[in-house]
Amino acid sequence: MAQAFREFLRQQEEKGDILRIRPQVDTISEMGAVIARADYDHVDKGLLFENPKGFDIPVFANTIGGSGYRRIADTFGVPLKHAVPGAAQKMRQALAGNVPPVYVDRGAAPCKELVFTGADIDLTRLPILRLNPADGSDTKEFLDGRFVCGVACTKPAENAYNLSYHRFEITGRNKGSVWIFRGTGDAKSMEEFWGAKIDDRSSTWNHDKARAFPMAFVIGVGPDMVLAAANAALPHKNNDFAYVGALTGEPVKLVKCETIDVDVPADAEIVIEGVFKPFDWVMQGRFASFNGFYDDARRRPAFHVTAITMRRQPIYQHVHIGRPLNECNNIAAFFRSVRVYVDLAQVLPNVVDVFVDPAAGCGFTVHVAIDKRRIGEPRMAMMRAYTALQGFCKHVFVYDKDIDIHNPHERDWALAHRFMADRDLLVIPNVIGMTIDPLAQADMGATAKLGVYDGHDAIVRNTRTFMGVDCTAPLGLKMMERVIPDPAIEASVDRIWHQIAQGGAL
Ligand SMILES: Cc1cc2nc3c(=O)[nH]c(=O)nc-3n(C[C@H](O)[C@H](O)[C@H](O)COP(=O)(O)O)c2cc1C
Repeated sequence: MAQAFREFLRQQEEKGDILRIRPQVDTISEMGAVIARADYDHVDKGLLFENPKGFDIPVFANTIGGSGYRRIADTFGVPLKHAVPGAAQKMRQALAGNVPPVYVDRGAAPCKELVFTGADIDLTRLPILRLNPADGSDTKEFLDGRFVCGVACTKPAENAYNLSYHRFEITGRNKGSVWIFRGTGDAKSMEEFWGAKIDDRSSTWNHDKARAFPMAFVIGVGPDMVLAAANAALPHKNNDFAYVGALTGEPVKLVKCETIDVDVPADAEIVIEGVFKPFDWVMQGRFASFNGFYDDARRRPAFHVTAITMRRQPIYQHVHIGRPLNECNNIAAFFRSVRVYVDLAQVLPNVVDVFVDPAAGCGFTVHVAIDKRRIGEPRMAMMRAYTALQGFCKHVFVYDKDIDIHNPHERDWALAHRFMADRDLLVIPNVIGMTIDPLAQADMGATAKLGVYDGHDAIVRNTRTFMGVDCTAPLGLKMMERVIPDPAIEASVDRIWHQIAQGGAL
């Protein structure tokens, strides 16, 4: 299961899971749209752009992809049908397991084949793309709206490593700005280094004590690390590499950065090292968030690049964000599904599966399947799912265990045949909301600013209306027998379809 990026690509190619895109594609005007189209049309493959216009570095997008859990299940080594409960179990074991990383010399680290520091640093030589048409707009300092979307690595303490994602707009050869969301592990670490809240605008900062906070963007890592970086359940000051090692059964190989006190996976393709100098902000251009809205241009911490290291012929790996479906919300929704599943299982051990819909704000709409035994369990599931996501969740649909909640046709069938609005609908107004919900109500009944997080405490007072929909069959009511496929017949159908797909005679 442990896969360095190159080995992952090789295996994917063997499985026919990579779509090679040979025509020249422009990284600003076209590439983001090609990835978005692939996700929207459910092209569940990695995309290898062999000829980004003006660059000799290929771009690989969709390591996990924007549509579905197939490659997530493969990475965790669990069956697709069991992806959420299976991953929950693997994560619990890996967190207890802990396989520490090992350190290699820079001579044994492919990511050090080329090293650029000082005046040689040039981000514009990398095929960094503009993801969405209006990305980067509304600022003066602007370089076509190019954003690095890849794994960020920090070292919050000795033997502690944090993997995460932070959008990084590049505004010059060696600089840019990075969005670090409040409450994330890196925001906490940065506050420790700076000795101040990252969004503190007062002038009481202690400039003498504040230290620069280092971060490395690690581009070109295997799917284990792509997933670990999105996993907010890993504790702050945890060793995320030891967690990945325990998941894969092999220690991650790390090498020291050139200019900062951070260690990075030695077999990465490209590493961008840099620091956040204390209290140094810059305007970041607009950028599409995971829920399909553009965020406003905002003041974000400035990022100063101190080194770029890479393989001699690297591949630039990109994780996509934009109009749902996209890789970002697919991954984020998966981990939210795991979070709800684990939380629900504490009060309802008969929970069977959870599906947080990535297209619906990756948390706004949650589908839950239970093996219902008592009247009232669906409502318990609704309320617990709401609290598990701490205000993210807005709509919960609960189904019986025979419904495949990942399949929209099955969900629609259950809604049509097992739900009665006067009896099965739960509506709770004025629950805690989210500013990224464009319909959330701010104080005094005014509508919150459309889809924009403004970074002020007042926003936590926004409210919204919660809806629970019970699509389970009433207990004790004799229902008509449902038509379901016969497993023995299905085995023959599999064979027939396989032969049809091969174009062979039956
Ligand atoms: C593709 C992707 C992009 C993300 N972009 C950002 C971002 O720009 N800024 C941010 O703070 N969080 C972003 N997130 C969310 C964090 O990566 C996520 O909350 C992370 O797991 C936090 O974990 P941590 O608290 O352990 O660092 C993104 C997540 C994904 C999956």
